[in-house]
Amino acid sequence: MSRLQGKVALITGAGRGIGRGIAEGFVREGTKVAVNDIDGQAAQATVVRLMEMGGEALAVPGDVADESAVQSIVRETLGRFGHIDILVNNAGIATYVPVAEMSSAEWDRTIAVHLRGAFLCTRHVLPHMLEAGRGKIINIASQRGQKGGAGLAHYAAAKAGIIGFTKSLALEVSRHGIHVNAIAPGPIRTGRPASERFHQTVAGLPIGRAGEIEDVVPTAIFLACDDSSFYVGQTLCPNGGDVML
Ligand SMILES: NC(=O)c1ccc[n+]([C@@H]2O[C@H](COP(=O)([O-])OP(=O)(O)OC[C@H]3O[C@@H](n4cnc5c(N)ncnc54)[C@H](O)[C@@H]3O)[C@@H](O)[C@H]2O)c1
Repeated sequence: MSRLQGKVALITGAGRGIGRGIAEGFVREGTKVAVNDIDGQAAQATVVRLMEMGGEALAVPGDVADESAVQSIVRETLGRFGHIDILVNNAGIATYVPVAEMSSAEWDRTIAVHLRGAFLCTRHVLPHMLEAGRGKIINIASQRGQKGGAGLAHYAAAKAGIIGFTKSLALEVSRHGIHVNAIAPGPIRTGRPASERFHQTVAGLPIGRAGEIEDVVPTAIFLACDDSSFYVGQTLCPNGGDVML
């Protein structure tokens, strides 16, 4: 029996990249997946791929920073699958811009997608998990939330916020059967053209190579299944040694 057989996961930003990889990994473990992305075509393409793999999947497009969209995403997921066992707050954006040149709009949008998005999805899924007395919430942070990054103050602040959010939520809900943890990946190749910054970061990694999506997926599966039941408010770091805690 697969470790996540019969579970239902809602994964945000799963139209491509790490979120899509986690969706594929979950389907291999027997999970039904609601695929969110702000890009509806990308969400649908992931659903087609998951169904080709033999999985059950539903596209729930929408902006995670928009509360009415999040309410629809959760409603549609529950309408189709009846429950949500696993929430992966993965949707994210990243731009490089020094603080001295950053517009308040760029700051606000980055914080909104990462932090407000994770809060809103959690806020609207949590009552159902509390009622069920069980659930797994996995927040995708970043090594930038631990070590910072020049040109990434908005992103690093959001990701550090995700780690604080993860700890605080874990303090609130762990005794109600809900497990909350984060993953802080290092630089991961996602198929999109890599920036010069990405190559510089990879060159400094102790492991001497970039991360692959498959370097992150096993951590997500571990946190989603009962093997990790004694992990509470932790941040796991598949990062090639970029940050050693
Ligand atoms: N790739 C890396 O090196 C790396 C490293 C550390 C952390 N991360 C984090 O992992 C997560 C996934 O990153 P990725 O590299 O796969 O990125 P990606 O850009 O390949 O995928 C992100 C997905 O999120 C979607 N998205 C963006 N804004 C959204 C919104 N408001 N609502 C819903 N969906 C939205 C995008 O359309 C996209 O499909 C992000 O949170 C990112 O910050 C990535």
